[in-house]
Amino acid sequence: MANVVVIGAQWGDEGKGKITDLLSRSADVVVRYQGGVNAGHTVVVGEQTLKLHLIPSGILYPDTQCIIGSGTVIDPKILLGEVDMLEQLGIPTDHLLISQTAHVTMPYHRLIDAAAEQQRGSHKIGTTGRGIGPTYADKSERTGIRVLDLMDPEGLREQLTWTIAQKNIILDKLYGLPPLDAESVIEEYSGYAERLRPHVVDSSLTIDEAWRKRKNILFEGAQGTLLDLDHGTYPYVTSSNPVAGGACIGAGVGPTIIDRVIGVAKAYTTRVGEGPFPTELHGDVGELLCQRGAEFGTTTGRRRRCGWFDAVIGRYAVRINGIDCLAITKLDVLDDLDEIKVCVAYDIDGERCDHFPSSARSFANCQPIYKSVPGWKQSTSHCRSLDDLPKAALDYLKFLAELMEVPIAIVSLGASRDQTIIVEDPIHGPKRALLYANGEASAQ
Ligand code: IMP
Repeated sequence: MANVVVIGAQWGDEGKGKITDLLSRSADVVVRYQGGVNAGHTVVVGEQTLKLHLIPSGILYPDTQCIIGSGTVIDPKILLGEVDMLEQLGIPTDHLLISQTAHVTMPYHRLIDAAAEQQRGSHKIGTTGRGIGPTYADKSERTGIRVLDLMDPEGLREQLTWTIAQKNIILDKLYGLPPLDAESVIEEYSGYAERLRPHVVDSSLTIDEAWRKRKNILFEGAQGTLLDLDHGTYPYVTSSNPVAGGACIGAGVGPTIIDRVIGVAKAYTTRVGEGPFPTELHGDVGELLCQRGAEFGTTTGRRRRCGWFDAVIGRYAVRINGIDCLAITKLDVLDDLDEIKVCVAYDIDGERCDHFPSSARSFANCQPIYKSVPGWKQSTSHCRSLDDLPKAALDYLKFLAELMEVPIAIVSLGASRDQTIIVEDPIHGPKRALLYANGEASAQ
């Protein structure tokens, strides 16, 4: 058995939804540990395409406990909309558990997120507009509303009456917006509370009970390493900690419980929102990646910026997360290219730099140093084993593994569950029996 953390090794949208869905088959418990409805994962099951924002993809397995952990922020309206959608499709949701200490996104958080972005003008972050930053800001400021506060009608009334009065001053004086009516917010959220109540638990305790029974626990990160509040491309980041270390705080477990960290990376790179992106492509190749990869955000529908694979940020993600194996997704998107480039280092003002610079200003100055490899010019979406892959595609994977200095456990070649090469099952397989840079799929 193994308790694994699945994280995004780039700027989010790496295809974690599909990988966690695959791994959830072997997991008894799946815990989403940070972020809110800014995330979006698409899971394709047979003919059905499900778009989820908060509920972990493990929900599709009725015997898997699905936990929305303490480190997340919950928008009850959207969460309950997802519950309704799943129920309508005949997918049960009674195994969905919600941490009582997660924070709640309120209407004023969404209003402030949108208004603050507008005021930032050319310095905007390009947020999803879902109130994520303001919800986490209230958490840090110790004025947030937690799920357990929703469960206490009298306390909620008192807390919201005071908070909404404060927020109305901000809405009026800072943003020139009309005030919120406290009574109608209280009524609306009291209604959500009753529907959420059967799902609310002390999730740290639930996870501990599972661990004591030697269950397999999967910790699911949202967004990606470069969007991490502490370790990402600050200030163009989200307001939580998607990195593997965030799993401990966001789930309420100690680091000794975690056996493995799986990093998910696309075979190229994408980014949504503002901020530097050294390998971004603006011409035909960028457009091809966008169209072939259907690179439009699940949450906002925004077009994702596309570029070549950046091994400098890849290595950084390996370091920051302690990644011990990789899942490379969307390899098939590169099928038609004559030549593929990989950024192996940066040039900053004439100096070679092999490491990710912490300052956004230096990062914006980075010129990628590329190594080109030949494309394979044939379809890979039907490949089900490493042997099925064209030699150039296998060489490309080996090259990525070599640059990142970690083996590849999974290769994804399309959205559906079967379009996958499992080099080795990272939950049940022997540790490190994976695709190494030398191309051997051999156990250590
Ligand atoms: P926020 O999380 O809505 O505050 O947005 C902050 C930054 O994170 C923006 O650049 C967003 O585009 C980005 N972001 C947030 N969630 C995701 C995600 O799930 N995938 C990709 N980018 C995201």
